Amino acid sequence: MGYELKLRIWRGDRSGGGLGDYSVEVSEGEVVLDALHRLQATQLNDLAIRWNCKAGKCGSCSAEINGKPRLMCMTRLSDFEPTETITVTPLRTFPIIRDLVTDVSFNYEKAKEMPSFAPPPRDADGKRRMSQIDVERGQEFRKCIECFLCQDVCHVIRDHEDNKPAFSGPRFFLRFAELDMHPLDTHDRRSLAQAAGGIGLCNITKCCTEVCPENITITDNAIIPMKERVADRMFDPLVWLGSKIGIRNKDNDGRTEL
Ligand code: SF4
Ligand code: F3S
Ligand code: FES
Repeated sequence: MGYELKLRIWRGDRSGGGLGDYSVEVSEGEVVLDALHRLQATQLNDLAIRWNCKAGKCGSCSAEINGKPRLMCMTRLSDFEPTETITVTPLRTFPIIRDLVTDVSFNYEKAKEMPSFAPPPRDADGKRRMSQIDVERGQEFRKCIECFLCQDVCHVIRDHEDNKPAFSGPRFFLRFAELDMHPLDTHDRRSLAQAAGGIGLCNITKCCTEVCPENITITDNAIIPMKERVADRMFDPLVWLGSKIGIRNKDNDGRTEL
């Protein structure tokens, strides 16, 4: 059963813009992205929208819907009253390119700062080995689709542009944690998370976890354990002494720290 949906959409570019009111016919079972596509096809041919898969997997269609960071392709119209006006605005934390499209290159710059996975030499038989439990532990973190909704909502950079150089954000704390928990990675991810990543600026508000469309428990499973690991490195006198005299340390899980 179709009905006329009222939409309020931000339109503009780097020089400025504002909200405009529109009305478009929608059908049962549709999502916000469907409504915007129909509006684009019938009324606003030049409306800029970034999207790709329409299946919640590419992470392209991130926007703010009624003020909440969400994927447009995964937000059902049935979540709203048919009489309600749905407001769609671009991600606030990143610079506008046009309409609903923002420049998310901040995230790619932060990704470039992250040294890639660096395993030690192979065993004598040419293989590398790790425990199944270590394989499973990182699995949740690899579900990330890089939608950057967590980056958008985090107040450390959302409200403080000047923090951006010093803060890599929840998506990358996830990556720090994944690699620090990997038994075959040889980089010192704890020092990197503290110094280059600015994990100390995170005050565990958990907003990132609330908006993650992949339901990754970013704060409890990645950020808090990573903060604890950083604190171990910085404040445990035995760990400090071991690092000074070159002894390999065991972390909380008993694995060898290379
Ligand atoms: Fe998106 Fe979740 Fe990945 Fe953040 S952690 S970029 S919210 S999928
Ligand atoms: Fe930001 Fe998430 Fe920490 S929202 S403050 S990174 S818990
Ligand atoms: Fe790919 Fe929405 S279009 S996640």
